[in-house]
Amino acid sequence: MSKKFIFNAFEMNCVGHQSPGLWAHPHDRSWQYKDLEYWTDLAKLLEKGIFTAIFIADVVGYYDVYNDSARAAVQNGVQIPVNDPLQIAGPVAQATKHIGIGITSSTSFEHPYTWARRIATADHYTKGRVGWNIVTSYLESGAKNVGDNSLNRHDNRYEIAEEYLEVIYKLLEGSWEEDAVVRDREKRIFANPDKVHEIGHKGKYFDVPGIGLTEPSPQRTPVLFQAGSSAAGKKFAAQNAELVFVSTPGKKVVKEYVADVRRQAKEAGRDPAKVLVLALVNIVVDETDEKAQAKYEDYKKYISYEGTLSLISGWSGVDLSKYGPDEPLKHEETNAIISIIDHLTNGEEDWTPRKLADWVGVGGLGPVFIGSATTVADALQAWVAETDVDGFNISYGVSHETFADVVEYLVPELQRRGVYPTEYKEGTLREKIFGTRYLPDEHPGSRYRDIEKVKREEAAKR
Ligand SMILES: Cc1cc2nc3c(=O)[nH]c(=O)nc-3n(C[C@H](O)[C@H](O)[C@H](O)COP(=O)(O)O)c2cc1C
Repeated sequence: MSKKFIFNAFEMNCVGHQSPGLWAHPHDRSWQYKDLEYWTDLAKLLEKGIFTAIFIADVVGYYDVYNDSARAAVQNGVQIPVNDPLQIAGPVAQATKHIGIGITSSTSFEHPYTWARRIATADHYTKGRVGWNIVTSYLESGAKNVGDNSLNRHDNRYEIAEEYLEVIYKLLEGSWEEDAVVRDREKRIFANPDKVHEIGHKGKYFDVPGIGLTEPSPQRTPVLFQAGSSAAGKKFAAQNAELVFVSTPGKKVVKEYVADVRRQAKEAGRDPAKVLVLALVNIVVDETDEKAQAKYEDYKKYISYEGTLSLISGWSGVDLSKYGPDEPLKHEETNAIISIIDHLTNGEEDWTPRKLADWVGVGGLGPVFIGSATTVADALQAWVAETDVDGFNISYGVSHETFADVVEYLVPELQRRGVYPTEYKEGTLREKIFGTRYLPDEHPGSRYRDIEKVKREEAAKR
């Protein structure tokens, strides 16, 4: 029996997430991102198509690398304005029964103590349906506006993220024992103080001496998503992430990535089968190949050249306004997402701003699959067979249209082929994906469940 694909919808609380300019398409609803109905309608649609999760990306900051200015981003609505992702979780959960909600939050912008409370609250409200996409951030504009002069250096951001996660594990796994809350009306004991522990965290970046603020939520630690692609990022993902995202157009790089992350996870003592990898793709599907191709050509008419370059400049840290439209890109060292410029200058293809805008403008850095359900299903199956990915993180050209087409045309075809679920499993997001409610025992986070033992070990080392 072949494995069943996981589908995530890749969204963001802004207009035209990975398709700059397409907000102007007459079918696009993404400009309604600030209305709850936009999100609840989308979640219900995705639930009809048995999507595992709706995954909300986020940045704190704006894209001002292109031409040293935020003008192109602001004018074209390139991930600015951008609203808070976490506030979508409650309403989406209320409007649906099963779909997971992946929320992005950066280890560079919020203290782990307050973030632990915010994500645990969402886990309570959604009855255990949240995931956390752990990012370290790449926009200098965000750092400047919260009073830091600049972002920390790339690899240092991952060192901080490691300690950040340790604090989160201590708070969510260790501080409150399973039976700490007794709600004993007779004895007037709500929670047993002997079972609520101070975490005593004293590290290089964070000091968190006290107790966690929340009682254990259905999953305790939310399902952990991550998308590192540098050496430091991949190591972090292999050690901690349960769902890993990769975004690059070719199967070869994805195949190597999947094998490498699984190998590193195994070395870290984890079960590699519990580290699932999803590839970013954009899908344009319709009744026939011709109709799908025509739809794609129509979408492309709305791509904003400047908007797309502003997006890629922000991701990569390279100011693409310095290049002529047909001038091949050269390698540069930056402090943003270094793998992007590495991939675009690895000699496989001469990438120019015009080619990049044409490809990335509808749906981002993954491959674009265009065609009838048969054509697209064949392409996805070939990807799974050749790269060993576990599923796909689907971006949109036009929202909700892209997702509505996937649900209407593609999902039934994949179900007929036996490679896509026909119903949800019961339980929390982690139970649906992995069959267990909490982090598995071999995951590093589970070590913090016996927090008093951890404190003794750490004290002995000091
Ligand atoms: C599918 C996908 C989604 C991502 N979502 C976000 C996001 O919402 N916010 C963010 O700051 N970075 C996001 N990133 C960037 C990653 O967190 C990461 O920084 C990037 O893949 C580069 O890896 P590196 O950090 O190891 O250099 C995303 C990356 C991918 C592939």
